[in-house]
This record gives sequence, C-alpha cells and structure tokens, in this order.
Amino acid sequence: MKIRGKKVLVTGAASGIGRCTALAMAKAGGKLILTDINELGLAETVSMARKQGGAVLASKALDISDLASVQELADEVHRDFGPMDVLCNIAGIALFAQVEDMEHSHWEKILAVNLWGVIHAVECFVPEMIRARSGHLVNVASLAGLAGLPWHAAYSASKHAVVGLSESLSFDLRKHGIHVTLVCPGAVATPLVESVRILADPALVAKSKPLFLKAAVTPEKVAELTLRAVERNRFLVLTSPDIHALYLLKRQAPRTFRGAMRVMSRAMDKALGKR
Ligand SMILES: NC(=O)c1ccc[n+]([C@@H]2O[C@H](COP(=O)([O-])OP(=O)(O)OC[C@H]3O[C@@H](n4cnc5c(N)ncnc54)[C@H](O)[C@@H]3O)[C@@H](O)[C@H]2O)c1
Repeated sequence: MKIRGKKVLVTGAASGIGRCTALAMAKAGGKLILTDINELGLAETVSMARKQGGAVLASKALDISDLASVQELADEVHRDFGPMDVLCNIAGIALFAQVEDMEHSHWEKILAVNLWGVIHAVECFVPEMIRARSGHLVNVASLAGLAGLPWHAAYSASKHAVVGLSESLSFDLRKHGIHVTLVCPGAVATPLVESVRILADPALVAKSKPLFLKAAVTPEKVAELTLRAVERNRFLVLTSPDIHALYLLKRQAPRTFRGAMRVMSRAMDKALGKR
C-alpha cells in the first residue's frame, strides 16, 4: 500500500520506534493519528512531524491497556476521519527477570501492555477496516516473539502471542483486502534500553546495558524497513543480519540453537549476578 494520503494510526508514538515510524509515515505523505501514554513525548512527536511538513490529524494520550480509552479514541477518529488505512501497534514495555524474582503484577503489566494493548487496538480499529475492505496492520513484536530468550519469560510470552495473532490475522484479513506486517526487531537503540526493568543488582544491570547497545540498530532503520514492508505488502520484517541468522539457526538447526541459548543463558546469569 502506498502511504501518500493514507490515514496512519501509530501507538507508542511518543518515543523510539513508534516516533520514528510516525515521522517516516508522515514523510511518505501519510496523515497521522498518534497515541501514547506519555503526553509530553507525544506532543513532541506531533511538533516534529509538523515541522518536517507532515500532516497530523489528531493525537491523544491514553493507556493502551485500558480498553475503554482505546474504544473512545476509535469512536472519535472513526467519527471524524472514517476507517484507518494503516494501524501500527508499536507501544510496548520490557522486563527481564528470573521467574523466582517476579511478582504476579509483573506478568500482568507486561501482558496488559504488550498483548492486550495490541488486542484492544485490533478489536477497536480492524472491524472498520474490514468494512472499508482495505488496510494494513503493523504489529511490532520482537526477536523474543520468535525465540524464547533467557531472562525474557514474560516479555517472550507477550511477544510470542503477538506473533501468533499476527500470523493468524494475515490469513483471515486477506479476503478483506487487509495485509499484515509483523516486525521483529533485535536490539534497537531507543529509550527502552533505559526504561527496561531488569530484576537484578542495579550495579550489574548498569554494567550490562552498554553490551546490549553494541548490537543495536537505530529506530530510524526499523521505521524505514517497516515503511518499505507496508508499501510492498511484506509479512515479516527482521531488522538486522544477526536476527536473520538466529531465526534461521532456530528453524534449520534447533539443537545448535538451544546450545547457543544455553551459553547465552549462563553468560546473562553471570553478568546479572545469578551464578
Ligand atoms: N528497543 C528494542 O531493543 C526493541 C527490541 C524488540 C522489540 N521492541 C519493541 O518495539 C516497540 C517499541 O519499543 P521502543 O524500543 O521504541 O521503546 P520506547 O520505550 O522508546 O517506546 C515505547 C513507547 O510505548 C509507550 N507505552 C508504554 N506503555 C504504554 C501504555 N500502557 N499505553 C500506551 N503507550 C505506552 C511508551 O510511553 C513509549 O513511548 C515495543 O513494542 C518493544 O517491545 C523494542
């Protein structure tokens, strides 16, 4: 789908991949509807988009895990602008932990934002796209949605669910003229690197974070790959060669993959004080 003139709704638009995707969509001629829980960051993205000549139809701060708020936004934008052409589900949070250190509320929070947030947007916006018989759904999952990484139990659970949901919808929505793109980034240099909760000794966490950034791509690159995938109706976006290699290894050589993950698990345990 060509983006010029299309209505593009982006969740998680206040920061990182969501902000860069919004700006890339605006640059390509899309008309933006932006949302995020972070009101200040959202206003910054709106002003950045307008400064580069982009069109922002509306923006509203809300918690994506709250169905009533998402429904209210959907009612407003459908009333004012009609069905969305592109729906980008990008809002997300991260938690890295060992299961014995997690409270029930940790599981609930991760699933509420990363999984229920996507479900809420799908429930509230996709039926109108079906009635319009066209559209494009973008869901941002993660490498952790394609492989269960060490320390990622809750995050991986939420992202695997988004992968399954996206794959199912890619088949179910095709007959309505709606395509689906599933974006699975590896490490991306965004504010998430700072905001991620890691349940371990803070001094060890501070030492480990720079290692993550070494392998990171920029959010601009993820946005550019996403835009290209929407324009070409591509399903899967993997954002860097190391992610391609790991995903290939998991499918083609599962025993080697499990061995590599055990090595990574021991290294993370050591770095974060669990051995
Ligand atoms: N950064 C990475 O390394 C990485 C890797 C793989 C996948 N991802 C995924 O990419 C997506 C974007 O992450 P990012 O790296 O740009 O992080 P980010 O923190 O820069 O952006 C995430 C945005 O989501 C918003 N958000 C959080 N909770 C929300 C809620 N309850 N309601 C509405 N908005 C909420 C935040 O305010 C923020 O603006 C996430 O789904 C994340 O899981 C990120």
